[in-house]
Amino acid sequence: MSGHFAFLLHPLDVSDVARKFPFLERHVPGHWLEAVMPYAPPIYTSHITGIRSPHNTAEGHFISVPLTPRLMLGLPEKVVLRKLIAAGRMAERLGARILGLGAFTAVVGNAGRDLADALDIAVTTGNSYTAATGVEALGLAADAMGIRLEEAEAAVVGATGSVGRVSAMLLARRVRNLTLVGRDPQKLEALAEELLRETGVAARISTDLHASLVRADVAITVSSAIDAIVHPEDLKPGAVVCDIARPRDVSRLVAEKRDDVLVIEGGIVEVPGDVDFHFNFGLPERMCLACMAETMMLALEERYEDYTLGRDYSLEKVEETIALARKHGFRVAGLRSFERALSEEEVARIRANAMRRKAALAAAAGS
Ligand SMILES: NC(=O)c1ccc[n+]([C@@H]2O[C@H](COP(=O)([O-])OP(=O)(O)OC[C@H]3O[C@@H](n4cnc5c(N)ncnc54)[C@H](OP(=O)(O)O)[C@@H]3O)[C@@H](O)[C@H]2O)c1
Repeated sequence: MSGHFAFLLHPLDVSDVARKFPFLERHVPGHWLEAVMPYAPPIYTSHITGIRSPHNTAEGHFISVPLTPRLMLGLPEKVVLRKLIAAGRMAERLGARILGLGAFTAVVGNAGRDLADALDIAVTTGNSYTAATGVEALGLAADAMGIRLEEAEAAVVGATGSVGRVSAMLLARRVRNLTLVGRDPQKLEALAEELLRETGVAARISTDLHASLVRADVAITVSSAIDAIVHPEDLKPGAVVCDIARPRDVSRLVAEKRDDVLVIEGGIVEVPGDVDFHFNFGLPERMCLACMAETMMLALEERYEDYTLGRDYSLEKVEETIALARKHGFRVAGLRSFERALSEEEVARIRANAMRRKAALAAAAGS
């Protein structure tokens, strides 16, 4: 037997659609394209072949939901859910037994719960493995920058969300100083209490993103903001940021203006076997996002049950997912920043720039 899954994709903005269909870019203005998207059906995108673990093989399908994050948050919830259900029905007709939810398809509809209730096949958001790989990648990047996590000031932006909550719990096992950053003080307080109960770490809470980030040595950013919320002036020299959000939380300007901070992409995973996605979603061969990987490993395991759903799943579920990933041979890919691999030399350069900047700031403060 071989595992069978499907995975929902969607454009992160209108330019994504225009890039895939250049004739549209030439003839249809972006705002028109976004205006017609709500009327378009789901689109079969590609057949995913060649996934092979030591224990099983799997195949799958990408199905695209033609909605941007802006539309998913702006349209009536019922309309968005109807479109996701139509895509889920396509997955069922294709013979998939489990459906993974990419980016904002996992944010809306009670983080996958409403879609899971409506479909006959299993559903997972992929958020357990996303959180696990984000924290692992942050640890690797901190090592490369010579930062000891147990002594570092850490922050999680979007901490009250589905990925953010569990990322904060995992990070709390490795750091002593942690700030939970969000928009809603009540949710933050409840999370800080849960964190203290579960991990013994007394985290600070903050709704002030800038004030929290300028003191952070390491940070995970995983909000569901539509536009970038982390800007060059928000980061401390030498800071390491793992940006898991899609669309990104960290502005591209950081890459241009701050040669003394390390921003890495979270949740990038190498797939076992000789996978061919038959679709270019911007990563090198054999690499995918952790949420896709979670769907694949459940298919390889032929574990067709609703898996990571909602915003309150347990750390045990995350640990189980890490074990499944190991069993089937998924692993965190090397460090990547703004869509490209980072070499050791580049990281060494960032580290040297950070030391120079810190020395200059200390000298200025002393004079
Ligand atoms: N790389 C991957 O493999 C992968 C996998 C899964 C998800 N993701 C991405 O991760 C992100 C979060 O997903 P999720 O499922 O955890 O979402 P979620 O459960 O909706 O949580 C989002 C969090 O972001 C906060 N937030 C929303 N808008 C904000 C803004 N403008 N400024 C500051 N904070 C804001 C929310 O705060 P409130 O509580 O105040 O609303 C909440 O804490 C999304 O971008 C998603 O696409 C990536």
